[in-house]
Amino acid sequence: MAFPDVYTASPDRYADASFRRCGESGVQLPPVALGLWQNFGGADVFETGRAVLRRAFDRGMNHFDLANNYGPPYGSAEENFGKVLHTDFRTHRDELIISSKAGWDMWPGPYGIGGSKKYLVASLDQSLKRMGLDYVDIFYTHRPDFDTPMEETASALAGIVRAGKALYVGVSSYSPERTRIMHKLLANESVRLLIHQPSYSMVNRYLEQGLLQTLGELGVGCIAFSPLAQGLLTNKYISGNAVTTRTDAEDTSFSKALLSDANLDRVRALNEIAKGRGQTLAQMAIAWTLRDPRVTTSLIGARNVAQLDDSLDAVNSLNFSTDELLAIEKYAVDTPNIDLWRPVNSRDA
Ligand SMILES: NC(=O)c1ccc[n+]([C@@H]2O[C@H](COP(=O)([O-])OP(=O)(O)OC[C@H]3O[C@@H](n4cnc5c(N)ncnc54)[C@H](OP(=O)(O)O)[C@@H]3O)[C@@H](O)[C@H]2O)c1
Repeated sequence: MAFPDVYTASPDRYADASFRRCGESGVQLPPVALGLWQNFGGADVFETGRAVLRRAFDRGMNHFDLANNYGPPYGSAEENFGKVLHTDFRTHRDELIISSKAGWDMWPGPYGIGGSKKYLVASLDQSLKRMGLDYVDIFYTHRPDFDTPMEETASALAGIVRAGKALYVGVSSYSPERTRIMHKLLANESVRLLIHQPSYSMVNRYLEQGLLQTLGELGVGCIAFSPLAQGLLTNKYISGNAVTTRTDAEDTSFSKALLSDANLDRVRALNEIAKGRGQTLAQMAIAWTLRDPRVTTSLIGARNVAQLDDSLDAVNSLNFSTDELLAIEKYAVDTPNIDLWRPVNSRDA
């Protein structure tokens, strides 16, 4: 595929960039990273996504998070990212942390979902092909699978590291208990559990109920996904002028139950606190997820360059006064009945 213009990365890209150590590992990650779950698929405008990726890299944001089934259609976010890697970032591979995952549904039949070795190994091979890569930096088991022994998932992850197809491995949406077990199983194979990817935002505070403490104790890093609760924690739904939103998609991942009057009242109150800090609500919501140093990175999505720029500017004001935190505490209410991504220990929990 031919592209009209040639990209030259900004030579100043790291001038204002900062990094945070991922747990007790040697890896440093940017405080805000970009995920390609939505807005980068075959159904989206390629050049818009490409502009976002370029802008992110020009600002020293060097961690891009993918998964086998990001799109739609499944696989297309990795394909599009592979094109941009090839045309724009080819000479920058060693500056990038690229992650992928397998665990949710990808192809039909029993070997296209779950935590089996059969699925994880085949899926990563497919992901590498789609992105044109020899290895990913981080490969995740995307979710706990209660039908697969954890020993099998751990040994598949360790084998993937030994085969050189991933430098590090991580887990997503694992409970504290399962995280401890996976950490131990991997350690038995001399492989570090680098990172956990849980959902965390002012409306989903599961992380604070034991998981963050576990990660701190184990020295495992934490990359918190959906810090904006998919757009709820921005001014878009309270401003009355949301042009296009995630809620418009036919098969949306955004639970409209989140847009209750009670939630929107809280969002309005949080927006006022953000204004008092001289930040947008999106920026404050991201900064809030980073207030504990055990959270390495806040993992955002962005529909366009304007959203990305707004969100990346969160790092300009990461500190909170005690009064601000107390004020936020009143409105940052956990909503366990709505959120989809809450780890459990067993399917009966
Ligand atoms: N491990 C897992 O199971 C899992 C699950 C979910 C996500 N993730 C990862 O986390 C990443 C981020 O998830 P997410 O997209 O839900 O994150 P998010 O940052 O909470 O939501 C992104 C959405 O918020 C809106 N938005 C972003 N910046 C904005 C701004 N500055 N002002 C106003 N609105 C703004 C946009 O919504 P509109 O599109 O409506 O404009 C955007 O699409 C994913 O790409 C993926 O890598 C992982």
